[in-house]
Amino acid sequence: MNNKESLSETIQVMQNHVSVRKYSADPIPREHFMEIIRAGQGAPSSHFVQAYSIIHVTNQEKKDQIADLAKNKHIKYCSDFLLFCGDLKRLEIAGRKHGIVIEYDNLENFMVATIDPALVAQNVITAAESLGYGGCYIGGVRNNPGPISDIVGLPDKVFPLFGLCLGIPAERNEVKPRLPMEAILHENEYNEKKYLALLDEYDQNMSTYYQERSSNNKDANWTEPMAQFLKDKRREHMRAFIESKGFHLD
Ligand SMILES: Cc1cc2nc3c(=O)[nH]c(=O)nc-3n(C[C@H](O)[C@H](O)[C@H](O)COP(=O)(O)O)c2cc1C
Repeated sequence: MNNKESLSETIQVMQNHVSVRKYSADPIPREHFMEIIRAGQGAPSSHFVQAYSIIHVTNQEKKDQIADLAKNKHIKYCSDFLLFCGDLKRLEIAGRKHGIVIEYDNLENFMVATIDPALVAQNVITAAESLGYGGCYIGGVRNNPGPISDIVGLPDKVFPLFGLCLGIPAERNEVKPRLPMEAILHENEYNEKKYLALLDEYDQNMSTYYQERSSNNKDANWTEPMAQFLKDKRREHMRAFIESKGFHLD
């Protein structure tokens, strides 16, 4: 479909998504903030376990500490910083209500407790964008998950996955081109043979985008920085941290 006007407003908001990393000093009005969180809660949940918690960090000192630990200054200045956590603690308590000790410690439950929060967070950012606000996920919280957990008092069975900054955009980048649809959409059967040609095309497209965008121009494509990013193991402390929260994932 070429006529974007005829798409739903929701689709237009989703297709126009960009991460926003500069915010005005004004806060998001509280009634909008609450509706945004309610929209987040509307996300589907695997077996309706709702295995997530969101820590809304409003204390500026805590925001500053988390910003330093995550190595991300936007956390300090955004209107609202949300820490998204996988959470099996509430389910443990639900089980206890019935005299049942839940088997939280297995890979399947751990995956559920990472998928559920991601779906909620994406609802949250989309709802915020639909009201004209902007945001940026912060995977940097996994640079120091232990100290960050301590700052917000996360118990065992609760672990931080990523942050989300929200605010009123002071600056908005151009929409980043995504992989060609054929590269991510396979019909009936997975097909890796098509990748090389499609990646060449995408490298061209990304390199034009990086050269022509209005700020932070650079001479780069997509495949090379991805290869550099993934050539070494990253955040190897995560296994020990997750174990410290009670997950051995047998
Ligand atoms: C789970 C997750 C973690 C991310 N962590 C960071 C981060 O720590 N810092 C940052 O500046 N952007 C972060 N991002 C934003 C991505 O860099 C961004 O979504 C990607 O480059 C695509 O750009 P766009 O969102 O503007 O389309 C993260 C995104 C996701 C989904």
